[in-house]
Amino acid sequence: MSEPLILGIESSCDETGVALVRGRELLANDVASSVEQHARFGGVVPEVASRAHLEAMVPTLERACAAAGVDLDDIDAIAVTAGPGLMGALVVGVSAAKALALALDKPLYGVNHLGAHVAVDLLDTGELPVPAIALLVSGGHTSLLKVDHLTDAGGITELGATIDDAAGEAYDKVARLLGLGYPGGPVIDKLATEGDPRAIRFPRGLTARHDLVKHRFDFSFSGLKTAVARWVETAELEGREIPVADVCASFQEAVCDVLSAKAVDACREHGITTLLLGGGVAANSRLRALLGERCAEHGITLRRPRPGLCTDNGAMIAVLGAELVKAGQPESGLAFGAHSGLPVSRVLV
Ligand code: KG4
Ligand code: ZN
Repeated sequence: MSEPLILGIESSCDETGVALVRGRELLANDVASSVEQHARFGGVVPEVASRAHLEAMVPTLERACAAAGVDLDDIDAIAVTAGPGLMGALVVGVSAAKALALALDKPLYGVNHLGAHVAVDLLDTGELPVPAIALLVSGGHTSLLKVDHLTDAGGITELGATIDDAAGEAYDKVARLLGLGYPGGPVIDKLATEGDPRAIRFPRGLTARHDLVKHRFDFSFSGLKTAVARWVETAELEGREIPVADVCASFQEAVCDVLSAKAVDACREHGITTLLLGGGVAANSRLRALLGERCAEHGITLRRPRPGLCTDNGAMIAVLGAELVKAGQPESGLAFGAHSGLPVSRVLV
């Protein structure tokens, strides 16, 4: 008998994602992004994101079913992001998933978005050797996780996280102050290739000896963002032309240096040889290269799902749902709510 067909629904930020997965086979993965509607604000506006989810949910579901060649009646279980994320945005996905579960009389699993970022790698690379370390970097989150088990409560623990801005948020804010538009990651990534990463020595947050005591695996990017702003302001006041490519390259180097150093340190200190990268910033060329070099130096295997699966999508939710069903975990039922601050230790609500 074939494995159950799982529908996954994601709506925690600005991407409406709907996917169909059978076991670890991805049948369809449709994403509608509201990123363009947020561009003029330089970041995601929660109310705008919620409304966009509402408009996109049914068409995205229809496209995913058509692409997979399945009817709603064929679905065996539904998984939806229960948190963490933007409250209004989460509620749209959770409500849609509950309506479907009720109408189709199928089990419903409310799953953790961060756990799903880790699980998505199963679709590309297969079984994840555990324990593993996961570095999740996006516009909404930046965390280092220890993964002992994907489907058990407490199977994932947070070793550290950003204490202020997420890495992607820092890219977006720096791009904004340089007048490069939104989202900032891709454009800074591209401009940085033409600049000198050693031109300006920007600060590496939480890497000083005293910070490493309390914040061993935490990150901070707001000081870096301010340092870039000050540097640009000073240059402008002095009437100098801003060397945009050098600023981008030097800023990017500071971000990628800290992210890769702490991720590799986490692996070494825990005696772990598998590192998994996820989130929108995982598409960054410098982060991929630097992490690749540093992992190779220390005998660490780097797992990096394709960029389309690193950004928020329904496939990650569906595959985690499939693993939960396979592990015999109890369904969430219809009585749960969205949890904007759901801790990573709770894989299922
Ligand atoms: O995972 P994602 O699509 O959405 C969430 O924030 O959850 O990540 C979006 C973030 C944005 O901040 C964007 O600027 C950043 O990922 N990003 C990048 C690159 N591509 C996207 N950052 C650096 N380099 C990139 N190539
Ligand atoms: Zn995410």
